[in-house]
Amino acid sequence: MKRAILAALGLATSLAAPVAGEDIKVGLLLPYSGVYAALGNDIEAGFNLAIAQFGSETDATFDIVREDTEVKPPVALGKAKKLILQDKVDVIAGIVSSGVLGAVRDLVHGAQVPLIVANAGNDDATGSDCSPYITRMSFSNGQVNRPMGTWMHEQGIRKVYTLAPDYAAGRQMIDGFVQTFTAAGGEIVGQEFTPFQKTQDFGPYLAQAKASGADAVFVFYAGGEAISFVKQYDSFGLKADLPLYGSGFLTSPLYVNAEGPAAAGVITGLHYVPTIDTAANRSFAEAYTAETGRVPSEYAVQGYDAARALIEATKAGATDRASLADALRQVSFEGPRGQLSIDPATNNVVQPIYVYETVEGAEGMTQTVLAELPAERDPVNGCQMAPVSN
Ligand code: BEZ
Repeated sequence: MKRAILAALGLATSLAAPVAGEDIKVGLLLPYSGVYAALGNDIEAGFNLAIAQFGSETDATFDIVREDTEVKPPVALGKAKKLILQDKVDVIAGIVSSGVLGAVRDLVHGAQVPLIVANAGNDDATGSDCSPYITRMSFSNGQVNRPMGTWMHEQGIRKVYTLAPDYAAGRQMIDGFVQTFTAAGGEIVGQEFTPFQKTQDFGPYLAQAKASGADAVFVFYAGGEAISFVKQYDSFGLKADLPLYGSGFLTSPLYVNAEGPAAAGVITGLHYVPTIDTAANRSFAEAYTAETGRVPSEYAVQGYDAARALIEATKAGATDRASLADALRQVSFEGPRGQLSIDPATNNVVQPIYVYETVEGAEGMTQTVLAELPAERDPVNGCQMAPVSN
Protein backbone atom coordinates (compact mmCIF):
# COMPACT_ATOMS: atom_id res chain seq x y z
CA MET A 1 0.00 0.00 0.00
CA LYS A 2 1.15 3.51 -0.80
CA ARG A 3 0.12 4.59 2.72
CA ALA A 4 2.60 2.14 4.24
CA ILE A 5 5.38 3.54 2.06
CA LEU A 6 4.42 7.11 2.97
CA ALA A 7 4.33 6.14 6.65
CA ALA A 8 7.81 4.64 6.40
CA LEU A 9 9.03 7.93 4.93
CA GLY A 10 7.30 9.84 7.73
CA LEU A 11 4.99 11.49 5.21
CA ALA A 12 1.66 9.88 6.10
CA THR A 13 -1.16 12.29 6.86
CA SER A 14 -4.31 11.41 8.80
CA LEU A 15 -5.24 7.73 8.40
CA ALA A 16 -8.84 8.75 7.77
CA ALA A 17 -8.00 10.88 4.73
CA PRO A 18 -7.92 9.04 1.38
CA VAL A 19 -4.64 9.31 -0.49
CA ALA A 20 -4.98 10.04 -4.20
CA GLY A 21 -3.91 7.07 -6.27
CA GLU A 22 -4.05 4.50 -3.44
CA ASP A 23 -2.82 1.10 -4.61
CA ILE A 24 -5.16 -1.62 -3.34
CA LYS A 25 -3.72 -5.14 -3.25
CA VAL A 26 -6.42 -7.69 -4.07
CA GLY A 27 -6.11 -11.44 -3.48
CA LEU A 28 -8.24 -13.30 -6.02
CA LEU A 29 -8.90 -16.67 -4.39
CA LEU A 30 -10.59 -18.90 -6.96
CA PRO A 31 -10.54 -22.47 -8.29
CA TYR A 32 -8.42 -22.58 -11.43
CA SER A 33 -8.33 -26.38 -11.33
CA GLY A 34 -10.79 -29.08 -10.21
CA VAL A 35 -14.49 -29.48 -10.84
CA TYR A 36 -15.21 -25.71 -10.51
CA ALA A 37 -12.26 -24.40 -12.60
CA ALA A 38 -14.51 -22.98 -15.37
CA LEU A 39 -16.53 -21.12 -12.71
CA GLY A 40 -13.35 -19.51 -11.35
CA ASN A 41 -12.32 -18.38 -14.83
CA ASP A 42 -15.74 -16.82 -15.49
CA ILE A 43 -15.68 -14.96 -12.16
CA GLU A 44 -12.21 -13.62 -12.95
CA ALA A 45 -13.28 -12.52 -16.45
CA GLY A 46 -16.23 -10.61 -14.96
CA PHE A 47 -13.99 -9.10 -12.26
CA ASN A 48 -11.44 -7.89 -14.82
CA LEU A 49 -14.15 -6.47 -17.07
CA ALA A 50 -15.53 -4.30 -14.25
CA ILE A 51 -12.03 -3.04 -13.40
CA ALA A 52 -11.50 -2.15 -17.09
CA GLN A 53 -14.93 -0.45 -17.37
CA PHE A 54 -15.22 1.37 -14.03
CA GLY A 55 -11.66 1.51 -12.68
CA SER A 56 -11.19 5.06 -13.99
CA GLU A 57 -14.02 6.26 -11.68
CA THR A 58 -11.72 5.89 -8.67
CA ASP A 59 -8.27 7.25 -7.88
CA ALA A 60 -7.32 3.82 -6.54
CA THR A 61 -5.43 1.29 -8.61
CA PHE A 62 -5.72 -2.47 -8.15
CA ASP A 63 -2.83 -4.87 -7.92
CA ILE A 64 -4.16 -8.43 -8.25
CA VAL A 65 -2.55 -11.60 -6.86
CA ARG A 66 -4.25 -14.86 -7.99
CA GLU A 67 -4.31 -18.08 -5.99
CA ASP A 68 -5.88 -21.45 -6.92
CA THR A 69 -8.05 -23.08 -4.24
CA GLU A 70 -8.29 -26.33 -6.26
CA VAL A 71 -11.80 -26.59 -4.64
CA LYS A 72 -10.01 -28.09 -1.60
CA PRO A 73 -10.68 -26.43 1.76
CA PRO A 74 -7.22 -27.16 3.30
CA VAL A 75 -5.42 -25.94 0.15
CA ALA A 76 -7.60 -22.81 0.08
CA LEU A 77 -6.85 -22.09 3.74
CA GLY A 78 -3.11 -22.25 3.04
CA LYS A 79 -3.49 -19.94 0.03
CA ALA A 80 -5.59 -17.47 2.05
CA LYS A 81 -2.88 -17.41 4.77
CA LYS A 82 -0.27 -16.71 2.11
CA LEU A 83 -2.33 -13.85 0.66
CA ILE A 84 -2.83 -12.28 4.09
CA LEU A 85 0.57 -12.84 5.72
CA GLN A 86 3.02 -12.88 2.82
CA ASP A 87 1.34 -10.79 0.09
CA LYS A 88 -0.30 -8.54 2.70
CA VAL A 89 -3.40 -8.04 0.56
CA ASP A 90 -5.88 -5.32 1.52
CA VAL A 91 -8.87 -7.39 0.44
CA ILE A 92 -9.67 -10.92 -0.77
CA ALA A 93 -12.29 -11.59 -3.46
CA GLY A 94 -13.62 -14.80 -4.92
CA ILE A 95 -14.28 -18.24 -3.35
CA VAL A 96 -16.55 -20.60 -5.24
CA SER A 97 -17.15 -23.52 -2.89
CA SER A 98 -19.16 -23.32 0.34
CA GLY A 99 -16.68 -25.79 1.85
CA VAL A 100 -13.80 -23.43 1.08
CA LEU A 101 -15.71 -20.45 2.51
CA GLY A 102 -16.33 -22.41 5.71
CA ALA A 103 -12.60 -23.18 5.92
CA VAL A 104 -11.35 -19.58 5.51
CA ARG A 105 -14.08 -17.79 7.52
CA ASP A 106 -12.26 -17.74 10.89
CA LEU A 107 -8.98 -16.70 9.27
CA VAL A 108 -10.36 -13.62 7.48
CA HIS A 109 -12.54 -12.69 10.48
CA GLY A 110 -9.64 -13.03 12.94
CA ALA A 111 -7.14 -11.24 10.69
CA GLN A 112 -9.75 -8.52 9.98
CA VAL A 113 -9.24 -8.78 6.23
CA PRO A 114 -12.28 -7.88 4.11
CA LEU A 115 -13.58 -10.70 1.93
CA ILE A 116 -15.93 -10.09 -1.01
CA VAL A 117 -17.63 -13.43 -1.70
CA ALA A 118 -18.14 -13.78 -5.46
CA ASN A 119 -19.88 -17.16 -5.43
CA ALA A 120 -19.88 -19.53 -2.43
CA GLY A 121 -23.39 -19.55 -0.98
CA ASN A 122 -22.58 -21.03 2.47
CA ASP A 123 -25.56 -19.84 4.58
CA ASP A 124 -23.50 -19.72 7.79
CA ALA A 125 -21.09 -17.08 6.42
CA THR A 126 -23.93 -14.55 6.43
CA GLY A 127 -25.83 -16.32 9.22
CA SER A 128 -24.53 -17.82 12.46
CA ASP A 129 -20.88 -17.21 11.39
CA CYS A 130 -21.42 -13.77 9.88
CA SER A 131 -18.63 -11.23 10.11
CA PRO A 132 -18.33 -7.49 9.43
CA TYR A 133 -15.36 -8.46 7.22
CA ILE A 134 -17.41 -10.76 4.95
CA THR A 135 -19.69 -9.17 2.33
CA ARG A 136 -21.42 -11.41 -0.17
CA MET A 137 -22.15 -10.10 -3.68
CA SER A 138 -23.35 -13.46 -5.05
CA PHE A 139 -26.21 -15.27 -3.23
CA SER A 140 -26.79 -17.54 -0.26
CA ASN A 141 -27.68 -21.20 -0.75
CA GLY A 142 -31.04 -20.78 0.96
CA GLN A 143 -31.85 -17.59 -0.93
CA VAL A 144 -31.76 -19.15 -4.42
CA ASN A 145 -33.72 -22.29 -3.47
CA ARG A 146 -36.46 -21.25 -1.03
CA PRO A 147 -38.50 -19.50 -3.76
CA MET A 148 -38.43 -22.67 -5.91
CA GLY A 149 -40.11 -24.76 -3.17
CA THR A 150 -43.11 -22.45 -3.05
CA TRP A 151 -43.23 -21.97 -6.83
CA MET A 152 -43.13 -25.69 -7.64
CA HIS A 153 -45.95 -26.39 -5.17
CA GLU A 154 -47.98 -23.63 -6.84
CA GLN A 155 -47.49 -25.48 -10.16
CA GLY A 156 -49.25 -28.54 -8.69
CA ILE A 157 -46.15 -30.64 -7.89
CA ARG A 158 -46.72 -32.57 -4.67
CA LYS A 159 -43.99 -35.27 -4.37
CA VAL A 160 -40.30 -34.57 -4.98
CA TYR A 161 -37.08 -36.61 -4.90
CA THR A 162 -33.91 -34.55 -4.23
CA LEU A 163 -30.24 -35.07 -5.13
CA ALA A 164 -27.11 -32.97 -4.51
CA PRO A 165 -23.40 -33.39 -3.85
CA ASP A 166 -22.51 -34.22 -0.27
CA TYR A 167 -20.95 -31.01 1.02
CA ALA A 168 -22.16 -27.78 2.63
CA ALA A 169 -23.64 -26.25 -0.54
CA GLY A 170 -25.50 -29.42 -1.56
CA ARG A 171 -27.05 -29.85 1.87
CA GLN A 172 -27.97 -26.15 2.33
CA MET A 173 -29.42 -25.75 -1.17
CA ILE A 174 -31.65 -28.79 -0.67
CA ASP A 175 -32.59 -27.63 2.87
CA GLY A 176 -33.73 -24.25 1.49
CA PHE A 177 -35.93 -25.93 -1.11
CA VAL A 178 -37.33 -28.54 1.32
CA GLN A 179 -38.24 -25.87 3.92
CA THR A 180 -40.65 -24.01 1.65
CA PHE A 181 -41.86 -27.01 -0.37
CA THR A 182 -42.94 -28.92 2.74
CA ALA A 183 -44.31 -25.74 4.39
CA ALA A 184 -46.57 -25.40 1.34
CA GLY A 185 -47.80 -29.00 1.85
CA GLY A 186 -45.41 -30.89 -0.47
CA GLU A 187 -43.76 -34.20 0.40
CA ILE A 188 -40.11 -35.27 -0.03
CA VAL A 189 -40.33 -38.93 -1.06
CA GLY A 190 -36.59 -39.56 -1.16
CA GLN A 191 -33.25 -37.77 -0.79
CA GLU A 192 -29.64 -38.69 -1.56
CA PHE A 193 -26.32 -36.82 -1.30
CA THR A 194 -23.72 -38.05 -3.79
CA PRO A 195 -19.95 -38.08 -3.01
CA PHE A 196 -18.68 -34.61 -4.03
CA GLN A 197 -16.15 -34.53 -6.89
CA LYS A 198 -16.12 -38.34 -6.95
CA THR A 199 -19.43 -39.39 -8.52
CA GLN A 200 -19.08 -40.27 -12.20
CA ASP A 201 -22.07 -42.61 -12.51
CA PHE A 202 -25.40 -41.19 -11.33
CA GLY A 203 -27.23 -44.33 -12.56
CA PRO A 204 -27.92 -45.91 -9.14
CA TYR A 205 -29.35 -42.60 -7.82
CA LEU A 206 -31.50 -42.12 -10.92
CA ALA A 207 -32.89 -45.63 -10.52
CA GLN A 208 -33.90 -44.79 -6.93
CA ALA A 209 -35.52 -41.53 -8.06
CA LYS A 210 -37.50 -43.41 -10.71
CA ALA A 211 -38.77 -45.94 -8.18
CA SER A 212 -39.66 -43.30 -5.56
CA GLY A 213 -43.11 -42.35 -6.84
CA ALA A 214 -42.05 -38.68 -7.13
CA ASP A 215 -43.80 -36.21 -9.47
CA ALA A 216 -40.47 -34.45 -10.09
CA VAL A 217 -36.78 -34.40 -9.16
CA PHE A 218 -35.09 -31.30 -7.66
CA VAL A 219 -31.28 -31.11 -7.64
CA PHE A 220 -28.26 -28.91 -7.11
CA TYR A 221 -25.20 -29.67 -9.23
CA ALA A 222 -22.71 -27.19 -10.72
CA GLY A 223 -19.71 -27.20 -13.06
CA GLY A 224 -18.50 -30.56 -14.40
CA GLU A 225 -20.94 -32.45 -12.15
CA ALA A 226 -23.90 -30.53 -13.64
CA ILE A 227 -22.87 -31.48 -17.19
CA SER A 228 -22.54 -35.19 -16.29
CA PHE A 229 -25.79 -35.21 -14.32
CA VAL A 230 -27.96 -33.51 -16.96
CA LYS A 231 -26.61 -35.77 -19.72
CA GLN A 232 -27.11 -38.95 -17.70
CA TYR A 233 -30.62 -37.88 -16.63
CA ASP A 234 -31.54 -37.47 -20.29
CA SER A 235 -29.90 -40.68 -21.49
CA PHE A 236 -31.73 -42.60 -18.73
CA GLY A 237 -34.94 -41.46 -20.46
CA LEU A 238 -36.32 -39.96 -17.23
CA LYS A 239 -37.19 -36.44 -18.40
CA ALA A 240 -40.60 -37.21 -19.94
CA ASP A 241 -42.06 -38.98 -16.87
CA LEU A 242 -40.08 -37.32 -14.12
CA PRO A 243 -39.43 -33.63 -14.95
CA LEU A 244 -36.11 -32.22 -13.76
CA TYR A 245 -35.96 -29.04 -11.63
CA GLY A 246 -33.13 -27.47 -9.70
CA SER A 247 -30.95 -24.53 -8.79
CA GLY A 248 -30.04 -22.59 -11.92
CA PHE A 249 -26.37 -23.59 -11.53
CA LEU A 250 -27.52 -26.88 -13.08
CA THR A 251 -28.08 -25.24 -16.47
CA SER A 252 -25.73 -22.26 -16.22
CA PRO A 253 -25.08 -20.42 -19.52
CA LEU A 254 -21.41 -21.22 -18.82
CA TYR A 255 -21.87 -24.91 -19.65
CA VAL A 256 -25.43 -25.35 -20.93
CA ASN A 257 -24.12 -25.80 -24.47
CA ALA A 258 -21.91 -28.64 -23.25
CA GLU A 259 -25.12 -30.23 -21.92
CA GLY A 260 -26.83 -29.52 -25.25
CA PRO A 261 -30.39 -30.75 -25.96
CA ALA A 262 -30.19 -32.92 -22.80
CA ALA A 263 -30.87 -29.68 -20.90
CA ALA A 264 -34.01 -28.77 -22.89
CA GLY A 265 -37.09 -28.54 -20.67
CA VAL A 266 -35.14 -28.42 -17.39
CA ILE A 267 -36.65 -25.75 -15.09
CA THR A 268 -34.45 -23.98 -12.57
CA GLY A 269 -34.33 -20.89 -10.35
CA LEU A 270 -31.50 -18.38 -9.98
CA HIS A 271 -30.60 -14.74 -9.28
CA TYR A 272 -29.42 -14.04 -12.84
CA VAL A 273 -30.31 -14.93 -16.41
CA PRO A 274 -28.47 -13.33 -19.32
CA THR A 275 -31.78 -12.39 -20.99
CA ILE A 276 -32.76 -9.81 -18.30
CA ASP A 277 -34.10 -6.94 -20.42
CA THR A 278 -32.49 -3.82 -18.95
CA ALA A 279 -29.99 -1.34 -20.37
CA ALA A 280 -27.46 -2.24 -17.63
CA ASN A 281 -27.67 -5.96 -18.42
CA ARG A 282 -27.60 -5.47 -22.20
CA SER A 283 -24.49 -3.33 -22.00
CA PHE A 284 -22.79 -5.79 -19.62
CA ALA A 285 -23.72 -8.81 -21.77
CA GLU A 286 -22.45 -7.12 -24.96
CA ALA A 287 -19.15 -6.12 -23.37
CA TYR A 288 -18.68 -9.54 -21.77
CA THR A 289 -19.35 -11.40 -25.01
CA ALA A 290 -17.06 -9.03 -26.94
CA GLU A 291 -14.28 -9.70 -24.43
CA THR A 292 -14.66 -13.47 -23.94
CA GLY A 293 -16.81 -14.79 -26.80
CA ARG A 294 -19.20 -16.23 -24.19
CA VAL A 295 -22.71 -15.42 -23.00
CA PRO A 296 -22.36 -14.13 -19.42
CA SER A 297 -23.24 -16.54 -16.64
CA GLU A 298 -24.21 -15.91 -13.04
CA TYR A 299 -20.54 -16.51 -12.19
CA ALA A 300 -19.39 -13.75 -14.57
CA VAL A 301 -21.94 -11.32 -13.10
CA GLN A 302 -20.86 -12.12 -9.55
CA GLY A 303 -17.22 -11.39 -10.42
CA TYR A 304 -18.27 -8.18 -12.17
CA ASP A 305 -20.37 -7.00 -9.22
CA ALA A 306 -17.64 -7.99 -6.73
CA ALA A 307 -15.18 -5.69 -8.55
CA ARG A 308 -17.84 -2.97 -8.82
CA ALA A 309 -18.38 -3.18 -5.07
CA LEU A 310 -14.65 -2.77 -4.50
CA ILE A 311 -14.51 0.23 -6.83
CA GLU A 312 -17.54 1.81 -5.10
CA ALA A 313 -15.89 1.27 -1.70
CA THR A 314 -12.72 3.06 -2.83
CA LYS A 315 -14.80 5.87 -4.35
CA ALA A 316 -16.28 6.32 -0.87
CA GLY A 317 -12.73 6.90 0.41
CA ALA A 318 -11.81 3.43 1.70
CA THR A 319 -8.10 2.72 1.56
CA ASP A 320 -7.19 0.11 4.16
CA ARG A 321 -8.59 -3.17 5.48
CA ALA A 322 -10.90 -1.61 8.10
CA SER A 323 -12.28 1.17 5.92
CA LEU A 324 -12.74 -1.24 2.99
CA ALA A 325 -14.66 -3.71 5.17
CA ASP A 326 -16.88 -0.91 6.41
CA ALA A 327 -17.51 0.62 2.98
CA LEU A 328 -18.16 -2.72 1.25
CA ARG A 329 -21.16 -3.40 3.49
CA GLN A 330 -22.71 -0.12 2.42
CA VAL A 331 -22.37 -0.32 -1.37
CA SER A 332 -25.44 -0.01 -3.54
CA PHE A 333 -25.48 0.30 -7.32
CA GLU A 334 -27.40 -0.74 -10.39
CA GLY A 335 -25.82 -3.78 -12.00
CA PRO A 336 -26.85 -6.37 -14.60
CA ARG A 337 -29.09 -8.00 -11.97
CA GLY A 338 -30.84 -4.69 -11.17
CA GLN A 339 -30.45 -2.46 -8.10
CA LEU A 340 -28.19 -4.28 -5.63
CA SER A 341 -27.93 -3.61 -1.93
CA ILE A 342 -26.39 -5.39 1.02
CA ASP A 343 -28.57 -6.37 3.96
CA PRO A 344 -26.84 -4.72 6.97
CA ALA A 345 -28.18 -7.47 9.27
CA THR A 346 -26.26 -10.25 7.47
CA ASN A 347 -24.01 -8.63 4.78
CA ASN A 348 -25.74 -10.78 2.14
CA VAL A 349 -26.94 -9.28 -1.13
CA VAL A 350 -30.71 -8.77 -1.56
CA GLN A 351 -32.04 -9.70 -5.02
CA PRO A 352 -34.96 -11.17 -7.00
CA ILE A 353 -34.97 -14.79 -8.19
CA TYR A 354 -35.86 -15.83 -11.75
CA VAL A 355 -37.48 -19.16 -12.64
CA TYR A 356 -36.43 -20.18 -16.14
CA GLU A 357 -36.72 -23.05 -18.58
CA THR A 358 -33.79 -24.07 -20.74
CA VAL A 359 -34.82 -24.25 -24.40
CA GLU A 360 -33.10 -24.85 -27.73
CA GLY A 361 -32.51 -21.54 -29.54
CA ALA A 362 -31.17 -20.65 -32.99
CA GLU A 363 -27.64 -20.26 -31.59
CA GLY A 364 -27.63 -23.03 -29.01
CA MET A 365 -29.31 -23.53 -25.67
CA THR A 366 -30.94 -20.47 -24.11
CA GLN A 367 -33.29 -19.45 -21.29
CA THR A 368 -37.01 -18.57 -21.24
CA VAL A 369 -37.99 -16.74 -18.05
CA LEU A 370 -41.19 -18.22 -16.56
CA ALA A 371 -41.41 -16.03 -13.44
CA GLU A 372 -39.59 -13.22 -11.64
CA LEU A 373 -40.06 -13.75 -7.92
CA PRO A 374 -39.79 -10.82 -5.46
CA ALA A 375 -36.45 -9.76 -3.94
CA GLU A 376 -35.33 -12.40 -1.48
CA ARG A 377 -33.74 -11.34 1.83
CA ASP A 378 -32.32 -14.04 4.11
CA PRO A 379 -33.53 -14.43 7.69
CA VAL A 380 -30.71 -13.43 10.08
CA ASN A 381 -30.09 -17.12 10.87
CA GLY A 382 -28.34 -16.30 14.15
CA CYS A 383 -26.14 -13.53 12.74
CA GLN A 384 -25.12 -10.96 15.34
CA MET A 385 -23.33 -8.40 13.23
CA ALA A 386 -20.53 -6.63 15.07
CA PRO A 387 -19.07 -3.32 13.90
CA VAL A 388 -15.70 -3.26 12.08
CA SER A 389 -13.01 -2.55 14.69
CA ASN A 390 -10.70 0.32 13.74
C1 BEZ B 1 -21.02 -23.50 -3.46
O1 BEZ B 1 -20.24 -24.40 -3.10
O2 BEZ B 1 -21.47 -22.66 -2.65
C2 BEZ B 1 -21.42 -23.41 -4.90
C3 BEZ B 1 -20.61 -23.96 -5.88
C4 BEZ B 1 -20.99 -23.85 -7.20
C5 BEZ B 1 -22.15 -23.20 -7.55
C6 BEZ B 1 -22.96 -22.66 -6.57
C7 BEZ B 1 -22.59 -22.76 -5.23
